[in-house]
Amino acid sequence: MIIKKAEFIISNTDISKCPTTSLPEYAFIGRSNVGKSSLINMLTDNKKLAKTSGRPGKTQLINHFLVNEDWYLVDLPGYGFAKASKESRFKWTKFIERYLRERENLLNTFVLIDSRLEPQKIDLEFMNWCGHNQIAFSMVFTKIDKLSSSALQKNIAQYKKEMLKTWEALPPVFLTSSESKFGREKVLNYIQEINEFYSKATLNS
Ligand code: GTP
Ligand code: MG
Repeated sequence: MIIKKAEFIISNTDISKCPTTSLPEYAFIGRSNVGKSSLINMLTDNKKLAKTSGRPGKTQLINHFLVNEDWYLVDLPGYGFAKASKESRFKWTKFIERYLRERENLLNTFVLIDSRLEPQKIDLEFMNWCGHNQIAFSMVFTKIDKLSSSALQKNIAQYKKEMLKTWEALPPVFLTSSESKFGREKVLNYIQEINEFYSKATLNS
């Protein structure tokens, strides 16, 4: 897919103030600092679109970006950034939970996972939560430029094994690097496929 235009539309903490639209929408979620905002910038080829930072907790709001005047990318705050918390449960304010559960045009949620780490309880719990709430998601392993391909293969195999303990089938899995742009075409093509499917389904309904 060619990205002709990507523009910031609105930030808020309230689903009722998100753009009123039936255009397809894709959200990016995962632990703080995993690279959500960077991935949005990589996909849209615009380093300044979403704000990134080396310090966790940069993104605090629901941020809508309109791409090609045709679909939305949504940057969300990270979970697991509660310094004092001993619990591993994903923690966030209610507005994100509401957004994920109630946003009708949200077609897919990309769950970002740091490819350098062994399976993290917090990510597994979040994906289970998505399952319970019937929220369609895909897994995106980020920062693959930061480890060797053998370490990467090992981590991904371990992750898949862990997931298959609770899931009958795995969701789509993507490997990305916002530094090298690895994975850009695959993620964009996947979005395009869903967009096309959605527009046919809407036409027929
Ligand atoms: P919050 O908004 O705080 O939840 O974080 P985020 O998930 O949006 O992460 P962000 O995109 O701000 O990136 C966090 C840090 O990781 C920044 O210093 C990025 O430059 C770095 N980073 C993100 N993606 C990659 C990647 O693919 N490769 C490398 N080497 N660094 C990355
Ligand atoms: Mg961010």
